[in-house]
Order: sequence, then C-alpha cells, then structure tokens
Amino acid sequence: MFITFEGIEGCGKSTQIRLLAQALTTAGHRVVLTREPGGCPIGDQVRAVLLDAGNRTMVAMTELLLYGAARAQHLAEVVRPALAQGQIVLCDRFSDATRAYQAFGRGIDRQLVEQVNLLACQGLAPDSTLLLDCPVETGLTRARQRIDASSGPREERFELEALEFHQRVRDGYLALAAEEPHRFVTFDATGTPTQVAARIAAAVTRRLDAR
Ligand SMILES: Nc1ncnc2c1ncn2[C@@H]1O[C@H](COP(=O)(O)OP(=O)(O)O)[C@@H](O)[C@H]1O
Ligand SMILES: [Mg+2]
Repeated sequence: MFITFEGIEGCGKSTQIRLLAQALTTAGHRVVLTREPGGCPIGDQVRAVLLDAGNRTMVAMTELLLYGAARAQHLAEVVRPALAQGQIVLCDRFSDATRAYQAFGRGIDRQLVEQVNLLACQGLAPDSTLLLDCPVETGLTRARQRIDASSGPREERFELEALEFHQRVRDGYLALAAEEPHRFVTFDATGTPTQVAARIAAAVTRRLDAR
C-alpha cells in the first residue's frame, strides 16, 4: 500500500504523516515514512538545490526536471523495495505535487509534466492520496512559524512565492482530487492536529480494511 500526503505549504503534511505512521505502527503494520524531494542521499542533495531560496534564477523547466530526477532515484532506492516487501509506504509529497506546483502553479504545459512523471514513476501511482486542504493564508502562516523555529537550512524557496502562486497550487490540488475521486481523499486541515489525525486514521483504516 502506497499512500501519499499532499497539500500546500504548512497544511500539516509532515505533522500528520508522523501521527499516521505512529498509529499504523502501533496497530502492528510495517511502515516506511519517507518524503519528496529527498528520502535518500541523492534525493536529499537534489532537495537542497530545489528548496534553497538563494537559487532565485532557477527556471521552471529545471525545477520540473530536478523533481523528476529526485523521484526516479527515490522510487528505485526506497519506495519500490519497501512495497515489494509488503510494507506500507507513507510519502510526504509525490507526483501530484509536481502537477500542482509545476503545471498549475508555474504554468508548465500539463502534458509535459505528465511525461516527466511517467519517466520518473514508470507507471507506479499511489493507492491513496491524502490531500490536506486549508486556506493559503493559514498554511503560509504555519509554514513561516515552522521555518523560523527550525535550526536547519531555511527551505523556503516556495514559501517566498506570491500568494497568487499558492492559490493556484491549492486550486490545482482540488482540481486533481476531482479528476481522480477514487484515489484522493480530501481533508479539512484547519482543525487541531489531533482532530485532523483522527479523520485521517479513520479514512486510512477503512481503506486498509477494504483490501
Ligand atoms: N492542525 C494544525 N494546527 C495548527 N498548527 C499546525 C497544525 N498542523 C501542523 N501545525 C504546525 O504548522 C507548521 C507546519 O506544519 P507541517 O506539518 O510542517 O506542514 P507541511 O509539512 O504541510 O508544510 C508546524 O510548525 C506544525 O507544528
Ligand atoms: Mg512538510
């Protein structure tokens, strides 16, 4: 079972993926928690380039291809082996982020984005995608607090984009969810972390039981 978490900056993906991993592990499942871009040494090196706010001159096509490169490596090294061992893979962002950010957000032709995803994924798609939806102001306020509180590198190239960019990304995610209503489950991400976690755990348990 391959489950991906999606949504705008600060919607709560990293918080919720940790809570779900804990709940599933407690329930006796074998779980791998990973993220994109990153999840493996080469992926993490590409991540640093993608999220470094100093890289102001990066053009949209470079961004798209770097996401594709990071994904190909991460799938080969982490995701496919874990799935082959029967583990539940929880991934913080995946191919829908490339659709939402590079197609809807940056305006790259959707067919080109699909081709890069195809090259990177070779047909692998998530079984379930959990979309955490909240207003962009809410998400960006939370993301800013997270970045200011963090002692690590400031991964804020996207957080510094205009509000309209994030609005296109949010609307893009909602459009993607409408395109594939069986794969996506959309959650209101504005409650407390505990409230959102309970809704997510209930939905994932239903999906696991159905298999
Ligand atoms: N439901 C919530 N309500 C308020 N703050 C939250 C909530 N979920 C997460 N946060 C906080 O908001 C910030 C961003 O959350 P995070 O999980 O890192 O979001 P994302 O991974 O989607 O960018 C973090 O500081 C986190 O502790
Ligand atoms: Mg995160």
